[in-house]
Formats: sequence, structure tokens, C-alpha cells
Amino acid sequence: MSFDYRNGSLYCESVPLAEIAASAGTPCYVYSAADILSRFLEYDSSFDAAQPHTVCYAVKANSNISVLRLLAQAGAGFDIVSAGELYRVLRAGGDPAQVVFSGVGKTFAEIDYALKSGIQTFNCESETEVEWISECASRQGKEARIALRVNPDVDAATHPYISTGLKENKFGIDIALAEDAYRKASQLPGLVVDSVSCHIGSQILNPTSMLEAVDRVLALIERLRAQGLRITNVDLGGGLGIGYKPGDATPSIPDYIGHLNARLAGRNLHVTVEPGRSLVAEAGVLLTRVILQKHNGAKLFTVVDAAMNDLMRPALYQAYHEIQPVHLPMDRPSVSADIVGPVCESGDFLAKDRDMKAVEIGELLAIRNAGAYGFVMSSNYNSRPRAAEVLVDGASWKVVRERETFEDLVQHEM
Ligand code: LLP
Repeated sequence: MSFDYRNGSLYCESVPLAEIAASAGTPCYVYSAADILSRFLEYDSSFDAAQPHTVCYAVKANSNISVLRLLAQAGAGFDIVSAGELYRVLRAGGDPAQVVFSGVGKTFAEIDYALKSGIQTFNCESETEVEWISECASRQGKEARIALRVNPDVDAATHPYISTGLKENKFGIDIALAEDAYRKASQLPGLVVDSVSCHIGSQILNPTSMLEAVDRVLALIERLRAQGLRITNVDLGGGLGIGYKPGDATPSIPDYIGHLNARLAGRNLHVTVEPGRSLVAEAGVLLTRVILQKHNGAKLFTVVDAAMNDLMRPALYQAYHEIQPVHLPMDRPSVSADIVGPVCESGDFLAKDRDMKAVEIGELLAIRNAGAYGFVMSSNYNSRPRAAEVLVDGASWKVVRERETFEDLVQHEM
């Protein structure tokens, strides 16, 4: 783990976080390049040598182009869900031939751009989308590779907003209707229908449900093959969670991939996985400074300079993020406090009733596990310029996205 205390001061790799805050200001996201790369390699190297595979990083988790470049240089593919994400991948030097395009509402223009860019596969979520891709490919005189994203009706046992594999969710095509949809798709011009995909949700701590979905998808592939379809690839999506709360262990990537190896052996399938959170969440913190503290009745509020517009997960999913002092306080009493931002909403909190050592005005806090779905979900709400982003590599670090200015706030307005 690249975030650790040395002599009472929190470091990212070999750089004191206080040094970054002093120079780049707060709030500020800080990512460890070593952490991101080591998790990517853990995925990549856990597949059996004989198992053809592609690890397609889910760009939505953290789409800073320096992060994408790091992964592209390590050989990663990418899972995108919009033309904007494809643009970022290409700007970062990613290989379009290793890009898969997921998402429930691709527009015709997005399909056109992706086809022109030469992406590897469209993971299709409706018959209308399949028809559009066929039409677009025919117009361009190209062939488009497609998978149908099937909805295996498995409960991912995660927060309802990030569960996607149940019949009641908007995602995918009901697995019971998939054979018919495959038959129709395989008759359309301009398509190579050679893949099946699924993704049942995110922040899954117990991979049993993911493996249940894998079994259902592999059974579907057998049925499709028996009907003469040449299925050569399976895309198993992302979803592996991380331990946000002190008692929650982060599931082991090699264990999960080991289960996949066992299920895939001898099936003659290339496998794609689309991890997002498990590659980058633990590799990032959000650095923030205490503005002031106040009591309302018996309650203590610690007001910091990061808010729900910077890190939306607590407000949106009641998510728990560990919060650590950048300098370990000596001899401070323990208190229970709400850590809140300056935004004018009671939903603007980063932690509720958190037991912690007392902090003082001006001190720095690190909100842990903020590398995934942190900056990417941030906004300018309350006209707050978005935070800076910093990438640490060993003893050196650089700003990879500048803090926004007031001018940035209004630049597209008239
Ligand atoms: N593939 C597809 C098709 C997806 O929809 C997602 C995530 C992933 C891969 C990556 O899943 P991961 O490995 O990161 O679990 N904003 C939420 C998470 C939303 C996830 C959406 N889809 C959060 O902050 O928890």
C-alpha cells in the first residue's frame, strides 16, 4: 500500500502529502502510480498463461489522461461508455483495437465515431442499438464486432444505485431472450457477432454473485454455439469491490481471477474483464484542510474545504470513506464529529458521527480510497472550482490537472 505514515506524517509513495498540499493547495486528489500499476499487473498476471485475455480498465472510474496513459503504457485496454471517454483514451495513447464500448444509450454519432476509430467491440444493450451499429457499419463499408450484454438476473448484493444485473435494472438484454436476439443480430449485415458480455454491478465484496453470473453466461455461450454461432469472446465486466470500512477486507484479485481460470479452462474463449474501482480506488486520496469547527447543540461539525461537489459518494450512496490526519496528532482527545463541506445542503457530508482524534483549524485530512468515482463525479455546484489532481511516482510528483479558476467557471457562458 502506497499511503503510509513515516515519523507521524502521511506519505504517498516517497512524497509527504503535506508537501503536495503546500504547493498544489487543497482540496486536491493525489494518486499513486505504483498502486495503480501494481493492481493492473495483479489482474494481468493472474490469468493462466494459456488463457487469452484483455484487461480493459473502466475509464469512468478515473479518466484523467495521465492515469489513462500510465495504464495504456502498461498494455491495458479500455472499457468506455461515451464518445468523450473514447476521446480521452485516444489522447492518452490508448490502442483503439483494445477498446470495448459499453452503455445503454449510445447515440448514432457515438457509434459512428467509435467505428471510425477502430474500436474492438460494442457491448450492445438493446436490439435498436444492434440495428444502428449494423447500419453504421454498412455505411462505412466496415464490419463491427459486437457482443450482446446479457442481464443474468443475479443479485450483486450491493447498493441499489450500482446494482445492474437484475431484471428490474435498465441494463442489458434479459438472458432468457438472448438466444433470439443473437439469432436476429447474426442475420444483420456489417456485424461480426462473436462475443457475450455481462456486468452485474459494482463494489461487490463477495465474488460469489459474480461467479454465478459467469456460470449463467458460459451456459448461454454453450447454447449459442450449439446453434452454430461462433462465439470466441466473453466479457465479464467489472465489479470487484474494495474494503472501504475498517472491518471490510478488499477481495483478492488473484483469487477472483483464479476462479475465472478454472471456469474458462478448455473453453476456447478469449476473456475480457473491465475493472474500474479495484484498480484505482485505493490508489487515491482527497486531501482537504480544516476550515473551522462548530458545535450545534451536542454535535460537533468539522468544516473542511472539500465538499460533496468534490466527492459525491457519501452524499449519493451514504458511502463510507476512511479519513486520516496527515500529521498524526499527539495527545489529543477522541471526539465524534461530522466532517462536512461548505456546500449549502445538509446532504453535504464526507463522514457522519466519525470517532476520531480532535483536529484543529488549518490541519490537513486525507480522505482515503478516493481514486475511483471521486474527481470524475465532481461538479461546480455552489460555483466551486474543481480540485487539482496530482500523480505521484516514487519520490516525484506532478499536477496532472490544474485546479480550476473562477475564469474556468464562466468560460462557456454568455
Ligand atoms: N463495466 C461496466 C459496463 C460498468 O457499468 C462498470 C461500472 C464497470 C465496468 C466498472 O465497475 P467497477 O469495477 O468499477 O466496479 N459511481 C459508483 C460506481 C458506478 C459503477 C458504474 N459501472 C460509485 O461511486 O460507487
